Amino acid sequence: MPVPSVRAARVPALAKINLTLKVLHKRPDNYHELRTVFQTISLGDWIDVEYRPAKTTRLHVDCNPEIPDNIILRAANAVLHEMRLKAEVHFHLRKRIPMGGGLGGGSSNAAAVLLALPALAGKRVPIDTLTRIAATLGSDVPFFLCGGTALGLSRGEELYPFPEPGVSHGVLVTPRIHVSTPLAFRRLRRHLTIPHNSRIINSFQSFSWEVGDNLPAASWREFCQNDFEEVVFRQHPEIQRLKKKLISSGASVALMTGSGSAVFGFFPNRPDAVAAAQVFPDAESVVFRTVKRARYRSLWWESLEAHALDHTWPPLSRYAE
Ligand code: C5P
Repeated sequence: MPVPSVRAARVPALAKINLTLKVLHKRPDNYHELRTVFQTISLGDWIDVEYRPAKTTRLHVDCNPEIPDNIILRAANAVLHEMRLKAEVHFHLRKRIPMGGGLGGGSSNAAAVLLALPALAGKRVPIDTLTRIAATLGSDVPFFLCGGTALGLSRGEELYPFPEPGVSHGVLVTPRIHVSTPLAFRRLRRHLTIPHNSRIINSFQSFSWEVGDNLPAASWREFCQNDFEEVVFRQHPEIQRLKKKLISSGASVALMTGSGSAVFGFFPNRPDAVAAAQVFPDAESVVFRTVKRARYRSLWWESLEAHALDHTWPPLSRYAE
């Protein structure tokens, strides 16, 4: 069968929120030890990918506004290198996820490239290899190779499946404030020494045993905590005001995600979420629902239908020998 000159797909890159985020001690490598629960949500970017085998690698990302040092290029170079392939790849990024909001937009874009290119190129790259590459690109990138709800340990790159809440409706509010993640970590003033019992968080542990599938995320109030709130709210009191406004608009839980600046709130149903979103200026708020792992994978299978075998994860190329 002749090799087609171009293989193209439009792939999803969903955002994440942190349902809980605990920062423990600083590590000798200057990263911090985390205990977090990641959750994919329906807000996402789309990436059009056009792949052509070539004698020399040429990559291009088309995005408005342009993103300097786009992580998409680093991800593409890394996975092409792993596959020992040279190619011309054109990416058109339709950016919907606000940048610098703690929503993992760049990380999700990078993971999307790691999932898409092997399927288009006709190579099998096992999930543990993709995870290793993902962790070199950023601590949050491996999560987007899984999706759904996952417990993140270590830098956040060591992932385990976590009981998935029932699909929950939420409002995300993204103020125009860029919080620097390294600076937010520094402001936490965590030390290198491991405080007594800090590796184990009993409340975290007992909650993870108690939650059953389909308990709505809105019932997770006791569990939803973010250690960054204190330091980021001190610096930017307007973010705390947004959180309070979500609660006064009827949110059962409201929390900042990652190191901010976005905050989300969960509502009993979609109409309540839509009504609450109207309290915020349009540019700032978006209604979302949580996306379970099965749905996350289905989105990928639909996007790569022409190139990958159904129900394989990571999507396995139809062209692979
Ligand atoms: O891994 P990533 O590139 O996303 O991390 C950005 C920065 O956030 C790191 O350089 C580090 O300063 C900080 N960080 C950390 N501990 C983590 C994750 C990130 O201190 N677990």
